[in-house]
Amino acid sequence: MLTKEYIKDLKTNGNGAIGKLVEQHKTNIGSLVFILESLGQLPKNFDSSFLLDLTTHKSSDVRLLAVKNIGKLSDEQNIQLLSYISKHDNDTTVRREAISSIGRIRKEIVKPYLVEALKDEDPKVVCQAIRGLLVFKGNGVDEELKKLINHENEMVRTVIYKEFFATQKTHKNQPHTESYDYLKNVVVNADTIETMKLLEDESIHLTFTSPPYYNARDYSIYPSYKAYLEFLADVFKEVHRITKEGRFLIVNTSPIIIPRISRSHSSKRYPIPFDIHPYLMEMGWEFIDDIVWLKPEASVKNRIGGFMQHRKPLAYKPNSVTEYLMVYRKSTEKLLDWNIREYDYKTVEESKVADGYETSNVWKIDPCFDKVHSAVFPVELCKRVIQYYSFKNDLVFDPFGGSGTMGKTAKKLGRNFFLTEKDETYFEYMKSKKSKEIFDERETKFLTLNEFKQTIK
Ligand SMILES: C[S@@+](CC[C@H](N)C(=O)[O-])C[C@H]1O[C@@H](n2cnc3c(N)ncnc32)[C@H](O)[C@@H]1O
Repeated sequence: MLTKEYIKDLKTNGNGAIGKLVEQHKTNIGSLVFILESLGQLPKNFDSSFLLDLTTHKSSDVRLLAVKNIGKLSDEQNIQLLSYISKHDNDTTVRREAISSIGRIRKEIVKPYLVEALKDEDPKVVCQAIRGLLVFKGNGVDEELKKLINHENEMVRTVIYKEFFATQKTHKNQPHTESYDYLKNVVVNADTIETMKLLEDESIHLTFTSPPYYNARDYSIYPSYKAYLEFLADVFKEVHRITKEGRFLIVNTSPIIIPRISRSHSSKRYPIPFDIHPYLMEMGWEFIDDIVWLKPEASVKNRIGGFMQHRKPLAYKPNSVTEYLMVYRKSTEKLLDWNIREYDYKTVEESKVADGYETSNVWKIDPCFDKVHSAVFPVELCKRVIQYYSFKNDLVFDPFGGSGTMGKTAKKLGRNFFLTEKDETYFEYMKSKKSKEIFDERETKFLTLNEFKQTIK
């Protein structure tokens, strides 16, 4: 019977024995795959001739494993064969593995083969060749690699940018983990763009916001949908500038419906999250996740009523029980680990997310209704975002503060907040007695734009 132990014994005890075993099982792809997968490290002087035959096997799984095992030998004599496979195999995974196997040889002789593979039409093969060549970085390969900065594929461009063109930022501001005191626990009653313009670059750690809906409520009147999207783009461009390197923006929106003006017209639905997405990508946000906020059906507007009566196709209008939380990160060549390492041990420990966290991207949370503000965040939604995307003492921002749910929750969770809210009624509401107990007035400053300007030194 074929077992891993049996294959291991054969491999170490008798040269040529594995070749004979392969010969016995040559018609059974499953067995061949098992043998090749079980080989592990190959001993010196391993008789690998059977592997060469398997590189033309009809099964791409077998060919892939044959190439992988040839790679383990790191033998210069196989370069020609591997190069041939990298150009001619009809399976892209096998072609990539062949380049990887050439790279594993790690000797000067492989350079021209890897440079040639940079011209491959499959970006995965190109990335593999780059990986192999980076071993020789600073040693005669840089010029070839730098040429790829304008490569058609974005992954290739990103790797090359990071390796050769990214300049180390000088953080003349403050350390990554810190934020300015004049921004901590402050609500400004003003237009968010006007306020943000007063802020230094890289001032905040996290933004979570729900922008005004396009003309769906009285606080959001825009001349056109295009003007609305461009307004949001201007807001998120400023948010991008004031966000610290590699930190997050989470935008809560959903498609909205503008009711028809009469029975002879139809209503119009605007896919806000999908339309704002390209603007965000363009301005340097990296897309990370789409989280769906799922509400109970009884809590949303009934759209299905008409269909329930007539049941006519095409006029199906399901109840919208979802909103999106689109998660973006400010683009950087630095890994998330870099961000985390900026914090001290104690802060990381204290910020660790407790048991009971959400494991999927569907968050079932009841909506929240408020007598004064018509579209408030549920506290639970803010809680999750703040806990999953910020550390203790970070500065979290909501450009469209509304009733201030994000600020209050941030404070409860040991973070600092900064909010802007244009509407005086909502600003006064945040200041009002009802909110006071949660906001803890002693520490929260409610400022006009002019007052805020005075605090900036
Ligand atoms: C959807 S609500 C946000 C509600 C908030 N998430 C909450 O929990 O209460 C959007 C808010 O943005 C405010 N707003 C609209 N345009 C603004 C602007 N240019 N600057 C600042 N706030 C603005 C509106 O007055 C409204 O309160």
